[in-house]
Amino acid sequence: MKQQFIDLGLQPIANGFLHPEEHEWFFRLAAGYDPETHLVSLMHFVDNTVLFNDRYIYCSSGSATMRTHFEMIAASIKNRHPRLVLEIGSNDGVFLKHFHPGAAIAVEPCGNFARVTTEMGYKTYPYFWNTSTVDLILQNHGMVDVVYAANCMCHMPDIENAFSLVRRVLAPEGTFIFEDPSVIHMLQRNSYDQIYDEHAHIFSLLALEKLLALAGFAIFNVEKLPVHGGSNRIYAHQCPTWRTSIADQLDEERSAGLDKIETYLEFARRVAQSKVELVELLWRLRAQGEKIIGYGATSKSTVVYNYCGIGPDLLNCVTDTTPAKQGLLTPGTHIPIVAPEVGLKPDVTAVFLGAWNFADEIVAKERAFAARGGKFITHVPNVRVL
Ligand code: TYD
Repeated sequence: MKQQFIDLGLQPIANGFLHPEEHEWFFRLAAGYDPETHLVSLMHFVDNTVLFNDRYIYCSSGSATMRTHFEMIAASIKNRHPRLVLEIGSNDGVFLKHFHPGAAIAVEPCGNFARVTTEMGYKTYPYFWNTSTVDLILQNHGMVDVVYAANCMCHMPDIENAFSLVRRVLAPEGTFIFEDPSVIHMLQRNSYDQIYDEHAHIFSLLALEKLLALAGFAIFNVEKLPVHGGSNRIYAHQCPTWRTSIADQLDEERSAGLDKIETYLEFARRVAQSKVELVELLWRLRAQGEKIIGYGATSKSTVVYNYCGIGPDLLNCVTDTTPAKQGLLTPGTHIPIVAPEVGLKPDVTAVFLGAWNFADEIVAKERAFAARGGKFITHVPNVRVL
């Protein structure tokens, strides 16, 4: 049974950027650790139809880093010469577009994005990952050779069932490749903003090894990825002769205490301290006459702003390159979201990195801002001015 280790208070839907006249609702955001499976999950799941629907706003092609990331994994999968690849959660086709339409199909419950990849020529099933979707795929295409999912398996509350459905659709010699933010990185970076409604779970390898085994999979390779604040890419297989030991990685997680509730409780104490430090820093800079804005209207920043009580009195606006987010307000805290060229005016002296996971890309892009003395503020791994 899950033991709660952190409570981030009442939170709105993290990606629920809203129009000024719109209403929103709040839920209790808390995470827990299950000592039996080692799985870290939300204490209360938000219904997936509320999170993933025709109005889903997050666009995977939004950064150069992610475009390159998907190009590289697509090239690596193509080298295996699969007959058919299935992507679960294809978003705007940032991965799919590297395949011939006859060689890749997708499942995407957000209708707006399912239409995009359909128009690109890819057979896209606009449904959630469930038994009837898998039945349909098996009926229309037979088994597939590769199942790929990026930042999607962690969205599925019933993860055991989700893995067993992958097993059903994957050919016996096929490979299951998926990547999601990892617990060890969250703990090391104090990035509590990885905990939000869409992340039903934050995976450790300790948990995945157990859960995948229940579905008949063995992990044969793990790649550590810098994206999304630190992720693991898992390669799993049903063929026992291909099993490669991941004992070293499991030992690393045990040494970091990922199999003990105390580690998570200690993390929660550091998070509470991070809140105090961030709020103090922002108010101090504000009192000194600094003009501060947010950079990147991310789901992660929704958690930070609501947990820390950061609103328009501290941040004049939040910039974001996604056209669909511009003109909207941040969930819960109602800070106006604008295009970077509108928000990053010459009188802005400091930016809070809502998209801290793209810090390198952003700092490189905003050289002129840094050159005139502009400050980049982050809370990861500790609160500071870069
Ligand atoms: P991401 O960390 O992927 O968001 P989330 O927490 O929701 O997973 O950040 C992507 C968002 O940041 C996206 O809305 C685009 C925005 N962004 C900018 O506005 N400017 C930038 O230079 C970068 C890299 C991202």
